[in-house]
Amino acid sequence: MDWGLKNRLSKTISPKTGKTVMLAVDHGYFQGPTTGLKNPKEDLPKLLPYADSLFITRGILRNCIDANTNVPIFLRVSGGTSILGELSNEDITTSMKEALRLNSVGVGMSVFVGAKNEDRTISNLGRLVNEAEDVGMPVLAITAVGKDMVRDARYLGLASRICAEMGAHIVKTYYCEKDFDKVVEGCPVPIVIAGGKKIPEKDALQMASNAIRDGAVGVDMGRNIFQSDNPIGMIKAINAIVHKNVSVKEAFDIYKNEK
Ligand code: 5RP
Repeated sequence: MDWGLKNRLSKTISPKTGKTVMLAVDHGYFQGPTTGLKNPKEDLPKLLPYADSLFITRGILRNCIDANTNVPIFLRVSGGTSILGELSNEDITTSMKEALRLNSVGVGMSVFVGAKNEDRTISNLGRLVNEAEDVGMPVLAITAVGKDMVRDARYLGLASRICAEMGAHIVKTYYCEKDFDKVVEGCPVPIVIAGGKKIPEKDALQMASNAIRDGAVGVDMGRNIFQSDNPIGMIKAINAIVHKNVSVKEAFDIYKNEK
């Protein structure tokens, strides 16, 4: 791996623990003003000290995040769809030059394996990696599940492996209860999990803990943090699971004690 790419990656995946807590706040790119992120300028700054990086679009970054921030930026560069349309109809919407201009430590895009436009999204990933390798920029590929995909190890393993084969440097996928370790085993690059829909806090902590146990290097989590009744407690608790390997009970205490 080239020095620049390795250095950028080290801003997100801690060289000390080999793990990462990415805070995903890109949801508005197809969902609009999502619950918990209706006012990103107010909602986000308090969470940044506990995140290893922020996964965000250029629009929310420029308008809602102070440029003096220390948090490394992972830029979502795909889009072009909305919840009202065909979700897989995505393209690359943000250039590599823009990612560099915004001092990003990585770029991310969704791939829709098994959906209507899987071919285009997979090819786009290949093209994005070509451009990213030129400038030493890590690429995060997201295995988007669309509306109808089953989130089992077979599907997630297939989608994750395809992303790695296209050259992604990190893959974000969903956790599955059965055989998630097989998903990790079949993917030769680090895997982080998305949190998915909001679930009870203890269950989300358990999911993060299971994912780490099964070989994930961390989370790129959104709704289960910013839609919690206690977002700071939740991100601190997730951080302790990921970086300090604390038990779910200890993490839940961290969440409760923050209240
Ligand atoms: C949307 C995304 C989100 O960043 C991802 O789903 C993580 O957020 P959450 O934990 O809320 O699922 O990539 O396509």
